[in-house]
Amino acid sequence: MRLTSGKTAVITGGSSGIGFAIAEELLKKGLCVVLVARRAAVLEEAKKKLGTENVEIVSADVSSAGSLKEAKKRIMARRDNIDLLVNCAGIVKPALLSDLSVSDISDQISTNLLGMVLAVRTFIDCLAKDGGIISISSVNGIFGIAGYAPYAASKFGVVGFSDAVRRELFKKGISIHVVFPPDTDTPQYRKECEHMPEWMNGWVRSNPLPPEVVAKRIIKAASRGRFMIFPSMTTKFYAFMARHLPLLSRFLIDRIAPKP
Ligand SMILES: NC(=O)c1ccc[n+]([C@@H]2O[C@H](COP(=O)([O-])OP(=O)(O)OC[C@H]3O[C@@H](n4cnc5c(N)ncnc54)[C@H](OP(=O)(O)O)[C@@H]3O)[C@@H](O)[C@H]2O)c1
Repeated sequence: MRLTSGKTAVITGGSSGIGFAIAEELLKKGLCVVLVARRAAVLEEAKKKLGTENVEIVSADVSSAGSLKEAKKRIMARRDNIDLLVNCAGIVKPALLSDLSVSDISDQISTNLLGMVLAVRTFIDCLAKDGGIISISSVNGIFGIAGYAPYAASKFGVVGFSDAVRRELFKKGISIHVVFPPDTDTPQYRKECEHMPEWMNGWVRSNPLPPEVVAKRIIKAASRGRFMIFPSMTTKFYAFMARHLPLLSRFLIDRIAPKP
């Protein structure tokens, strides 16, 4: 995938955190970006902060096929195709499964997994021949952590979906990328730490990386054609262990990760 000046990227979750930082990174490369998120005021603020004409904002909910259809109509009214779709929209609520309401569970799955599937389905026929799709998974897409069961289900789903779609689009030249970010200092991460259940306290987590660093590494790896993107050595190590030494990996994670 060649991310060159004049191309267009649609970024779900582009108004905040990693999605916003990816928008900044792509703007530096001369691309036009379309930020998609629900809250119009936050989108306006993000556009103002980016301070360039090359930013379009569209309010939509990725968990709704109808909302995405409307967004597509608006986005495609001004262009023939898009070059990159970045699936960054996501939410998390750390808590034991038994403490989560049904809507807490379905919100996480319908935003993180169904929302990504619907966004790909909505924009797939708009992608240019050498276009690409970047979808954000998590360390919870490599192994599941107690307190993150629905989130882990959604993030493992992102990986399986991306693998299948990669093969569906193989002959079309569209590149697919799935990202496993480490802890990243975003509004979602800060809120997650604030609301962490007590039994999780004391769990040693790495210092979160700045979203700008994560975004730079994602775009660099995607431009090089990597399918699985690890913006830190820690997530790369976890994935290596899970794949090549699954028994040892499970043994270690069972001991290191918090348990109620
Ligand atoms: N930060 C981390 O440490 C970390 C680590 C691993 C993976 N991730 C993943 O990285 C992605 C970005 O996270 P972040 O930390 O950058 O979060 P963030 O700062 O909270 O940004 C989330 C973005 O998603 C949008 N969004 C949420 N629900 C949406 C919906 N239904 N429809 C459309 N947009 C929606 C939000 O805007 P609105 O609320 O206005 O819609 C916002 O723009 C998520 O998928 C997250 O799971 C984050």
